[in-house]
Order: sequence, then structure tokens, then C-alpha cells
Amino acid sequence: MGRLIAFIMARKTWRQNLRVMDALSIEQGDRTLDVGCGHGRSLTELASRAATGRIVGVGPSELMVEIAARRNWAHVEADRVSVVLASMESLPFPDDSFDKVLCVHVL
Ligand SMILES: C[S@@+](CC[C@H](N)C(=O)[O-])C[C@H]1O[C@@H](n2cnc3c(N)ncnc32)[C@H](O)[C@@H]1O
Repeated sequence: MGRLIAFIMARKTWRQNLRVMDALSIEQGDRTLDVGCGHGRSLTELASRAATGRIVGVGPSELMVEIAARRNWAHVEADRVSVVLASMESLPFPDDSFDKVLCVHVL
């Protein structure tokens, strides 16, 4: 069921995610965090917009982290994208780790 929801969600929220990424004006070297990255579709887009940057996705669901990492495996292998099991209440990153942050469809 989780995989089906991820599949549907990746399509349903795509326009809003594109609007948010446009509003953030992602630049080549940006270090960008996607909080509640879910299926990880935005991580792929962020990696192409920030070709020399670093992209990190976080979420508290083991299944979503697995799906997002698998979707982005080539970028993960190249150490450009990482997907971390974590909650926004306790992000495991030092201050000033990111230039931009997005959080879309997360309550
Ligand atoms: C509706 S999905 C949205 C996924 C993606 N951001 C999008 O726009 O398609 C909500 C996501 O937020 C994650 N989430 C729920 N509670 C969270 C929390 N406390 N911290 C970070 N992510 C959370 C869920 O695991 C899920 O992947």
C-alpha cells in the first residue's frame, strides 16, 4: 500500500513541488534539504538543477526513504544525493548545513 501511495503522491504533488523549486531559484552549487521528501521525485529534480550542489532528503518512514534512495540511486552512488531517516523535529545536521530548504505537502 505504501508503494502505491508513493507512486500516486509523486504525480499528485508534482506541480506544487515544481512551483516551490522555482520559487527557491535553485542555483548550481546549492546545498538543499527536502524535509518530508517522500518518494524522492523532487530530489532528482533538485540534483539536476544544482549540478554541483548536495541534495539531502529526510523522512521518518523507512519505506519512503528506501523508495527515494532507490529512485535516486545513481546520484546516491555519486554522493550527490542522500536520503536520511529522520524527523523534522530532530534534524541530524549542524547549523548552516543548507542554503535552501523545501517542505511540501507535509503537516
Ligand atoms: C504527503 S507526503 C509529501 C511528500 C513530498 N514532499 C511531496 O510533496 O510529494 C508527506 C511526507 O512527509 C513525511 N513526514 C511525515 N511526518 C514527518 C516529520 N515529522 N518529519 C519529516 N517528514 C515527515 C511522510 O513520511 C511523507 O513522506
